Amino acid sequence: MQYMSLQIRSSFVHCLADPSISDKAVEYLADGVLSIANGHVTSIAAFDPSIHKNQQQLDLRGKLIVPGFVDTHIHYPQVDIIGSYGEQLLQWLEKYTFPKEASFSDEAVAQDAATFFLDELVSNGTTTALVFGTVHKESVDAFFNAALKRRLRMICGKVMMDRNAPDNVCDTAQSSYDDSKALIEKWHGRDRLGYAVTPRFAPTSSTEQLAMAGKLLDEYPTVHLHTHISENHDECEWVAKLFPQSEDYLGVYEAHGLVKKRSVFAHGLHLSDSEWQRLSKADAAVSHCPCSNLFIGSGLFNAKKARQYNVNWGLGSDVGGGDSFSLLRVSNEAYKVQQLQGQKLSPLDALYRATLGGAIALDLDNYIGNFETNKEADFVVLDPQATPLLKRRSSNSKDWQDQLFALLMLGDDRAVYDTYILGQSAKLKTSA
Ligand code: GUN
Ligand code: ZN
Repeated sequence: MQYMSLQIRSSFVHCLADPSISDKAVEYLADGVLSIANGHVTSIAAFDPSIHKNQQQLDLRGKLIVPGFVDTHIHYPQVDIIGSYGEQLLQWLEKYTFPKEASFSDEAVAQDAATFFLDELVSNGTTTALVFGTVHKESVDAFFNAALKRRLRMICGKVMMDRNAPDNVCDTAQSSYDDSKALIEKWHGRDRLGYAVTPRFAPTSSTEQLAMAGKLLDEYPTVHLHTHISENHDECEWVAKLFPQSEDYLGVYEAHGLVKKRSVFAHGLHLSDSEWQRLSKADAAVSHCPCSNLFIGSGLFNAKKARQYNVNWGLGSDVGGGDSFSLLRVSNEAYKVQQLQGQKLSPLDALYRATLGGAIALDLDNYIGNFETNKEADFVVLDPQATPLLKRRSSNSKDWQDQLFALLMLGDDRAVYDTYILGQSAKLKTSA
């Protein structure tokens, strides 16, 4: 099946560059044909009767097809604590997160969660994600096995944490190094899977452990680094106390060689200008997770600073701090977060961050993010008529950008008609 060729006729929109910088960054085809062979894009073009008329196409006119969504920060073991009441970050970790993550020492628990989680991602149009496991290496085996079965493009890592948390979710500096190394050897680069060295955040790692994380990055230069930074005020104060020798939060990671290309830092809400500048210089990326930032009351992401310092950033759901898997919902909250600061996130900006911008943040833009020839054919078929409200709003759209904005603001998994992975339908809905 994977090797079939396929042509789809529909409306398409995708980004070729950052729309806030270039006005030629977006291609929209009201009536286009996407051609796929061997799971990869062979062409995308406007429908031309002289070329396409006698060819067999899957007719998805009336839908809008966009590249598969890229979720740049999410925790698969937190699927069961999504929407938990009443706490901000540090208490939320203690009360909900650590007890749940402790249960992932049981591989059956991990397998069950990984299966549900990946089904949920696909139902929401997400085909690539950067994912936290738990401290247990079995959690990452379970995740990668499930992702491999679905042929998804996924990056995951075993959490490294050796202090300031209950014993049943802690490792040691040495065991975290050994387990991560074994997982890298087993999984990194296999099919579409990649490994991320994953120290949870500065407060739960000793300097010895952070040094081990740096050693892994030196030994395996193509793996990612995935962690949190500067999310919550109490967390930032705690980091200042735990690392008095460090000039700031980013400095803790820099001191251990963790800030580089393919380093992805979730949140970054309270960064100084100097930290923004150093992230930019290192070509590191930030994951903006507005659903989480609002749900656990952490703060507002300053997209203007990211732009000013030319820092790559993508969107993240941060499930289970975030309360939705849908990058449409995440785009909605990202829009509102900028509105609260007197800034605008245009529909094209949001589409870019959910697709090509996210792919660039993960250094995967050679493979995914748009419909350029030879890229992997991961895409989402959005249905502007999916709900009565969307149908009504869509009939009042003044142009395609307004239609796209309505989908981004009002959509969720109901608006995802189907998701294609390497050119193959997940067959989410069968009736038109
Ligand atoms: N900081 C450290 N761990 C976590 C986590 O699991 N979720 C969020 N949102 N922030 C964190
Ligand atoms: Zn997180």
